[in-house]
Amino acid sequence: MKVYHSLTEWRQARAGQDFAGRTVGFVPTMGALHAGHRALLERARAENDRVVLSIFVNPTQFNDPADLARYPRTLAADVALAGGLVDDVLAPPAAELYPDDYRYRVTEGELSRRWEGAHRPGHFDGVLTVVLKLLNLVRPDRSYFGEKDWQQLQLVRGMAEALFLPGEIVACPTVRAADGLALSSRNARLSPAGRIHAAAFPEILRESPAADRAAEHLRAEGFEVDYVADDAGVRLGAVRVEGVRLIDNVRL
Ligand code: PAF
Repeated sequence: MKVYHSLTEWRQARAGQDFAGRTVGFVPTMGALHAGHRALLERARAENDRVVLSIFVNPTQFNDPADLARYPRTLAADVALAGGLVDDVLAPPAAELYPDDYRYRVTEGELSRRWEGAHRPGHFDGVLTVVLKLLNLVRPDRSYFGEKDWQQLQLVRGMAEALFLPGEIVACPTVRAADGLALSSRNARLSPAGRIHAAAFPEILRESPAADRAAEHLRAEGFEVDYVADDAGVRLGAVRVEGVRLIDNVRL
């Protein structure tokens, strides 16, 4: 496995013999890898000749500077977790990915304004812009995204269609702990009691008869609720537990 911090070196490698005639699977991440990421990498490994992982804590998708500062940076542990599944790790510094200082960006004008977008203004502009940059750099045959970030997945798919991007966007099921909580790097910030409490979030989403009833039930159980909404057979929601923001979605 080779780790690239320089985009010049990466582009040379991507144009070289190691990639010639090989299919490329791509898993974009912000690091702090867990078993959910590993499932994406395993699928990429099974379906492609070469697997590229990106690790980049993307500053433009954080609307809260404190959240960006707190985001775990665990490159050595991430590289260890990816071992055996990944051929190349792309981990560039922000100045290399944003030589334009974010003057150029991708904006979607409808879905990106709802739910997550309404609570995190500018978030999806940052996500779509960095995903487009990474797809242009990696030129994958297949890119793997988790269904846990359901709205992100729809927007990335929509961008790929709207901008005629080559390559397939592959959706992968959410990986959950035994008690049903979706795996997330944010779970590590919960106290043991908060972690037990958090497992009621997906359960209430799944079992409530309607989105507004789910929101009421979550509030009654002590969650701060940002939103719960039903859309195209999926119920999605965002809550806070001990100040830690969790998102999830379930099929209705
Ligand atoms: O889902 C994530 O980890 C990020 O939003 C992504 C897709 C890697 C873009 O920074």
